[in-house]
Amino acid sequence: MKKAVESSGTGKKFGATQALKDISFVVNEGEIFGFIGPDGAGKTTLFRIITTLLLPDEGEMKVLGLDCRSGYKELRKNIGYMPGRFSLYQDLSVEENLHFYATVFGTTVEENYDLISGIYSHIEPFKKRLAGRLSGGMKQKLALSCALIHKPALLVLDEPTTGVDAVSRSEFWEMLKKLKPYNITIIVSTPYMDEAMKCDRVALIQDGQILSVDQPEKVRDGFSRKLFSVKAPEKYKLITALRSYPGISTAYPFGDAVHVTFKDDDFDDALYDYLDRMGITDVKITGTRAGIEDRFLELMGSKV
Ligand SMILES: Nc1ncnc2c1ncn2[C@@H]1O[C@H](COP(=O)(O)OP(=O)(O)O)[C@@H](O)[C@H]1O
Ligand SMILES: [Mg+2]
Repeated sequence: MKKAVESSGTGKKFGATQALKDISFVVNEGEIFGFIGPDGAGKTTLFRIITTLLLPDEGEMKVLGLDCRSGYKELRKNIGYMPGRFSLYQDLSVEENLHFYATVFGTTVEENYDLISGIYSHIEPFKKRLAGRLSGGMKQKLALSCALIHKPALLVLDEPTTGVDAVSRSEFWEMLKKLKPYNITIIVSTPYMDEAMKCDRVALIQDGQILSVDQPEKVRDGFSRKLFSVKAPEKYKLITALRSYPGISTAYPFGDAVHVTFKDDDFDDALYDYLDRMGITDVKITGTRAGIEDRFLELMGSKV
């Protein structure tokens, strides 16, 4: 399999802040590869290095077979980058933005229209509207169209779905899946754990370090404890009570449930009585499979 990105030991400091530390990973050609991590994890710094906008202090970064230092001119022609904050010209119209990006990359909208048509068709009815006056979801579609218009081999999307509504978020991932036949490698970052499941492989990143790289299902399987889902109508009261129960090791909110692990790993029957004494009724406890989030929290916990 050909490698689209190969990072070995990449490091970057800003003054005293170690933004990235010993980052090593490989992205294969044609993959949708996700970086999942909270604010400040180092995602944007890493993406700026991959897109040659920032130089690493340490390590080796090869992108599309070229070194990120010496190959930057060639690389910039072959990478599409959608930065987290908007890359669009707010006072140009939709179609003017698109034509602008096509021209900068020495191509035309017509030449690569088939690649973006599935995405651009959603916003084409508004092509005369100024980009600044589009909704968040529409801006995101236009920014993606602009990042793709020169048919890049590598598409780098920094938190493309942050701050957009749930429907637009899921539409966005559908659009990315539709790019599969074009064999474009996609690197995408997100703070949303549910989006991790839509990637071929994900890297969990925190404090400038990669905690795990794997297929999302395998990341879930990496969870090492028995996990239980506890539900009760008053969730806040429930989580507070669970966290003060001596037999419980961890208790984290997860959707409408609380995910707990026990110090002895196995379920502790006395918990029912305890919750009853705490005035918590209608309690439902079942064994459950870990989500990516559970594994992330476990890895983060074990690092301390
Ligand atoms: N230009 C910069 N100058 C100083 N510190 C920076 C700069 N860019 C990022 N950082 C710091 O590096 C760390 C990683 O930031 P960033 O890469 O933006 O993370 P993320 O994109 O995951 O939120 C943070 O501690 C951030 O404050
Ligand atoms: Mg960022």
